[in-house]
Amino acid sequence: MITVHTIAELRAQIAAWRRAGERIAFVPTMGNLHRGHLELVRRARERAGRVVASVFVNPLQFGPNEDFERYPRTLAQDRAGLEQAQCDLLFAPTAREIYPRGMDGLTRIGVPGISTVLCGEFRPGHFDGVATVVAILFNLVQPDAALFGEKDYQQLLVIRRMTADLHLPVEIVGVPTQRDADGLALSSRNQYLSADERPKAALIHRTMQDVAAELRRGNRDYRGLREQAAAALAAAGFRPQYFEIRTPGLDSPKPEEKEWVVLVAAYLGNTRLIDNLRVSS
Ligand code: PAF
Repeated sequence: MITVHTIAELRAQIAAWRRAGERIAFVPTMGNLHRGHLELVRRARERAGRVVASVFVNPLQFGPNEDFERYPRTLAQDRAGLEQAQCDLLFAPTAREIYPRGMDGLTRIGVPGISTVLCGEFRPGHFDGVATVVAILFNLVQPDAALFGEKDYQQLLVIRRMTADLHLPVEIVGVPTQRDADGLALSSRNQYLSADERPKAALIHRTMQDVAAELRRGNRDYRGLREQAAAALAAAGFRPQYFEIRTPGLDSPKPEEKEWVVLVAAYLGNTRLIDNLRVSS
């Protein structure tokens, strides 16, 4: 695996692969890779002759009081994991490489509507930061396909919309959430959980499953289901930001709906956890 830190090196390698007629699949990450990320790389391998991953903790998508400083940075370990997963190239730029003129006055990409609900309501500007860096990375890597985890369901919708609106010739592929045996969705932020909090964190998945079972049973009291679920999490010590039942496009569901997505964001101690579950009747 080749590791490059500069745009010039990245572009030179991509151009060489393009001249050789290779297809390129791309896995953008913020590093601290776990089984979920490596599954993205594995799926990328199935789609293209060359796989590029990026590790970049993007300052533009963190709010002023969020965990940008303490976000785990484990590049040597990430490189070893990617190597084992048969990634061809790791792009690990500095913030200066990506934002050479700084972030003030930077051209930004915003996807209105879906960026301001759910997580967007609690993390203003977050999805603009994501859409902007992903557009920059797409411009640099020029992939045929890019793979993202479905755990960040709203992010996936924002990226799909941005890619479609800008007519970027990139196929966006969502990959199912990888979970621990007790159901907790894999996330780099899980390591913030204390030994006491970790087993409790699985309650998020169990609560979503309970709601899914009710929906499949025909219960359409969306409000009641949401409130009950949020109360169950709060009683167990979580601080829920939202517990929502939406259509797959994130609209409010009607009683005749047949497909939903249950979405949760909740703090457990100092750790913000998000998860979602697709449900169909
Ligand atoms: O999901 C992530 O890790 C990040 O939001 C992404 C897509 C790599 C953009 O920084």
